Amino acid sequence: MLTGKKILVGITGSIAAYKSIILVRLLVKAGAEVRVVMTPAAKDFVSPLVLSTLSKNKVYCELAEADEWSNHVELGRWADLFIIAPLSCNTLAKMAHGFCDNILLAVYLSATCSVVVAPAMDEDMWKHPSTKQNLAKLISFGNTVMEVNHGELASGLIGDGRMAEPESIIQFIQSSYFRNNSLAGKKALVTAGPTYESIDPVRFIGNHSSAKMGFAIAEALYMEGAEVYLITGPSSEQIQFDGIHKMEVQSASEMYDQVMALFTQMDIGVFSAAVADYTVFNPAVEKIKKKDAELNITLTKTKDILAEAGNTKKPHQLIIGFALETENEKVNALDKLARKNADFIVLNSLRNEGAGFAGNNNAVTIFSKSGMEKSIGLKSKKAIAKDIVSLIKETVNV
Ligand code: CTP
Repeated sequence: MLTGKKILVGITGSIAAYKSIILVRLLVKAGAEVRVVMTPAAKDFVSPLVLSTLSKNKVYCELAEADEWSNHVELGRWADLFIIAPLSCNTLAKMAHGFCDNILLAVYLSATCSVVVAPAMDEDMWKHPSTKQNLAKLISFGNTVMEVNHGELASGLIGDGRMAEPESIIQFIQSSYFRNNSLAGKKALVTAGPTYESIDPVRFIGNHSSAKMGFAIAEALYMEGAEVYLITGPSSEQIQFDGIHKMEVQSASEMYDQVMALFTQMDIGVFSAAVADYTVFNPAVEKIKKKDAELNITLTKTKDILAEAGNTKKPHQLIIGFALETENEKVNALDKLARKNADFIVLNSLRNEGAGFAGNNNAVTIFSKSGMEKSIGLKSKKAIAKDIVSLIKETVNV
């Protein structure tokens, strides 16, 4: 999601510098081009060799090395974003007052891109008035200061001052600086996950859906600039972006109510949830006790959320359904497309090896109302989500 973005990572002397190794690794994994600049004190905590290996680039530690002068102006102009993590109290004070006695500070003073800092220090230092004043100065310069976390500190004390986790830094920079705007102004609703239909207070009928596909679609829509509402059944998945409106439901009828409350305001609806087709007619109020006789549970049909959306949709609304078939896949998928009045149906086949509910990969075929058929071979659910969102972009932006 950071493909081609140029990120400069600044590291200062703090025990939290070990997290910058993970940060660099995650940035590279997300597709960014990464360069690293360090203060002399940072080298006591992490080795430039590790960072140059992970970033696949030379690490800048000195303003001048042997007979070579490091061009800090070039570095500061090269980057799309400069992130200083961890930011120590000492470097913070120097940045606030325009000091320039190392390469990181020289790059900071000549950077033309946005600057994000992730402070790390002990709680007493974090709460000191001079730290607060210095941070306020950075903010007045237009820099962004990430929140510190609460927890165990290098001193052994528990308090505020831990550096933000690398995963949070990545999600913050992605959503704050690198969102596209191809779906800006559009509202999108995504259903995800299984539903749980209660039998009694401790038992339910559910299914193996992990919600991974729906979460990936919600994130891909968000990264294209849409305002996203994710309505999910029970799942252990974590959504990457705080800006996505996430609503948790349990049963098919709760999911139906949430969707119907929002659907008229939406431009896009993606219905990837594995909604129960049947629910328990009369769930027991108390736990059902074991008896010798057989136990019969009466099931009644749930309301079909996708069909309801399809039947009430306005011409500007685009809806996408999912189908999971084990036989007559194409015929059944096309039947679903027509019956539920969807614009697209994404067919998952359980026959594809490596694809399925719990895994990170999937293989799908997408059918459109206008007769298009597009197969996407086995790849990550995140990559498939991007393909689906590309199709959405092409359709809503014509
Ligand atoms: N769906 C829904 N509400 C339901 C059941 C299904 O919104 N109560 C949606 C799913 O989110 C998915 C699509 O409908 O997008 C396909 O669901 P599926 O259960 O496979 O379809 P059915 O209509 O139940 O058809 P069948 O049982 O014949 O497979």
